[in-house]
Amino acid sequence: MNLIIKDNYDEMSKATGDFVIDYINKKADTLLCIAGGETPYGLFKYLIEASKNGKVDFSKCKFVGLDEWVGLGRETRGSCQETLYNNFFDLLPIKEEQICFFNGLAENLESECKRVDKFISDNGNIDLMVLGIGMNGHIGFNEPNVPLDTYCHVVDLDPITKDVSVKYFDEALDVKQGISLGMKTINESDTILLMANEERKAEIVRKTVNEEKTPLVPSSLLKDFPKLYFFLDKAAASKL
Ligand code: PGA
Repeated sequence: MNLIIKDNYDEMSKATGDFVIDYINKKADTLLCIAGGETPYGLFKYLIEASKNGKVDFSKCKFVGLDEWVGLGRETRGSCQETLYNNFFDLLPIKEEQICFFNGLAENLESECKRVDKFISDNGNIDLMVLGIGMNGHIGFNEPNVPLDTYCHVVDLDPITKDVSVKYFDEALDVKQGISLGMKTINESDTILLMANEERKAEIVRKTVNEEKTPLVPSSLLKDFPKLYFFLDKAAASKL
């Protein structure tokens, strides 16, 4: 694991962004997956600015969603789709055909999983995966006690994820399930960037980095991934 510790959130976002830009400059047709949640907002801003300034060209990239709350679509502020489209995709000069995102409102969630799996395999697996880390160590909606042998799948949400969910929405929503890329999908990526900032993440970062691998802390399962880069700000790294 490569640990990159920066002084603050902006520096962490910039360092992650520079990695993404460098990767795409070497592989123009990168299949990129970036998590929703609050952590990547700075990264989105940095990449949009870089695109405007001609430092990176996303026109040949493909984009796939990491996860979504079951029952929520783009019209719900705080859904993963809304977050990615309104803060990233819609602000880049890219076409809708380049993007595959989970529809949390799909009637048949199994078909929705197959559709996303197919997009990924048709494009030769994910090149660059950018993940946040949940307060319970989840990555995407791969929750504590995660099975290792899954591609896209529907998940019952962990109580901590349900508690944390209120911060994303305008009103508390009774979310019970998620749809997510699985550990197998994640492990088949070429390179994984994990990001965490703020002191509230310090304990889960410590467990991820300093303790043994366990499915109870899904982020810890990435430890031995060959090309893993863990971007932290000082506060999140304070218990290492
Ligand atoms: P956050 O969520 O970026 O909003 O902290 C991280 C996650 O749950 O993966």
